[in-house]
Amino acid sequence: MDSVPYTEQHNTLTMNVDTGSVENIVDLLHECNLQVFNGYENHEGLSDEQFLNKLDRLVTLVREILQNEKGIIVISGCGTSGRIGFLASTFFNQLCIERNLPPKYRYIIAGGNSALVTSVEASEDDPVIGATELKKISESFEHVLFIGITCGVSAPFVGGQLEYCLDNLQKFTPVLIGFNPVSMARRIHVPKWPNGRTFYDIALRMEKTSEAIVLNPIIGPEPISGSSRMKGGTATKIILDTIFYLASTNNSIKTRDVIEEFKTTIDRMKTERMKLATVVQQAGDCLLNDSYIRYVGSSTFGVWGMIDASECVPTYNSSYNDIRGFMANDYFKKNLNPEPVNSFVSPALHESTPDDLWKIFENLPSSSLIIFIDTEYDSQKSLIDKLQKKKHRIVWIKLLSAKSLEPNSNVQIIDFSTSITSSDMTVQYCLAEIVLKLCLNTISTGAHILKGKVYQNIMIDVRVSNIKLFYRAIDIIKLLSGVDYQTAEKCLIQSIHQTDNELNKQTIEQHITAVASNKDHIVPIALLMCLSNCSYTQATHQIDKCPRIRDICTNTNRSST
Ligand code: F6P
Repeated sequence: MDSVPYTEQHNTLTMNVDTGSVENIVDLLHECNLQVFNGYENHEGLSDEQFLNKLDRLVTLVREILQNEKGIIVISGCGTSGRIGFLASTFFNQLCIERNLPPKYRYIIAGGNSALVTSVEASEDDPVIGATELKKISESFEHVLFIGITCGVSAPFVGGQLEYCLDNLQKFTPVLIGFNPVSMARRIHVPKWPNGRTFYDIALRMEKTSEAIVLNPIIGPEPISGSSRMKGGTATKIILDTIFYLASTNNSIKTRDVIEEFKTTIDRMKTERMKLATVVQQAGDCLLNDSYIRYVGSSTFGVWGMIDASECVPTYNSSYNDIRGFMANDYFKKNLNPEPVNSFVSPALHESTPDDLWKIFENLPSSSLIIFIDTEYDSQKSLIDKLQKKKHRIVWIKLLSAKSLEPNSNVQIIDFSTSITSSDMTVQYCLAEIVLKLCLNTISTGAHILKGKVYQNIMIDVRVSNIKLFYRAIDIIKLLSGVDYQTAEKCLIQSIHQTDNELNKQTIEQHITAVASNKDHIVPIALLMCLSNCSYTQATHQIDKCPRIRDICTNTNRSST
């Protein structure tokens, strides 16, 4: 079957998201968020009865493991999928500890702990390391419920782990979470997978194995095509929270009811749409004027800030400095997997006190945007005062517990606190997190749309940092320029290697490695080469005249008609 996987298709709702007003961006992203529940075209989304039955089966399995002394639950994924797994595992372990139960959840993320806060995309392509990590983490246990998340049903890292589980069913129960039918699982071979196996082979095997579970509701294309951190990430979080919460409670609450709570809470977010639109506009202005966006938060709220920031690098080829998250407490220190002493530890994993933050923020470019996430106002007040003296813009996202602000503080408040209500504290916290996730996704996606990093609903400056993104880049170039596959690939490779010469002998891995030292608009330059039928050198000269990358598409289209 050749059709394009849902997760890579173009969402009909957002085809013109790049040309509307900022309020329109906020509204369209909101509507897409609801597609996760309501479904897309003839698909039913998370409210589908059959899917809910599968969730119930999983709740039973998680419950059994929680009661089994020799059992653990391992959650694994790449990029945002791995980060959401980390958050779920640490949050529900905390719940176990509060109830005097052993912490049963473990996480694995491709690329290790640093990948929790920075983009380490290439690790996604290694099924062997994936399996080795799973073996290591589960060594001393007899029963392992393994949950592998890959929104696109594509990541070889997760594929290798599922394969290892399928080969050892006496110990492992494998679960695959993704958002494409098995027939659309990725069939591209990666060199590190022996005997030409692909994710499709593993997904098919999963489907045919009665002990295995495939959870793959069809939630429809992403608002920005391929940006699986958005709907994919949202659905992943809701699925994990729902299962783990229900497995840990004795209440007779139904799966459907929990899912419904997520849906109504997300729907209520529209009450803050105008305030959110103002902040999206400011965030867009920041990126256009070389100012920066910063998130500050504690515990899992802080992690969500970092997750949102880290995804902008591969998705929009933004610089590490454009959007960054900071952690205001020592959440990571308490929750990270142990790693070998000499492994790299990203500085972003450290706690930042208000004094540390001031040292870092003191020299921010003027009119930067600092977004505080529901943290203690009193402890940040003097930092905020100093930032305001420097004329930076301050935003406060109010979710649950933050104290009211002083009336004269000039801080813009986006207040979701009245929308986040549940009779259960655990659910309420999970609801606050999803609201936060969607709020930050809207800000960073909207800002990049305003910066011109999106044409129609396509990420036209994607960073080609793994095999999946290499092929996505070729598809984008083909689609927008109308050239054939060979021409798109040739131009992409020349752009990666910054040369006018044709390179025929190098492998995809060598191309991806070369991307690390050339971060400059690789896809836009290749696109321009195809659109204008010009050389790499000529395209680089032209690109300098385009302040907004999307103008390449509009200008070139206009001049050729
Ligand atoms: O390779 C980049 C990326 O698409 C991230 O943006 C995403 O979070 C990650 O890969 C994982 O994707 P998936 O969940 O489809 O495996």
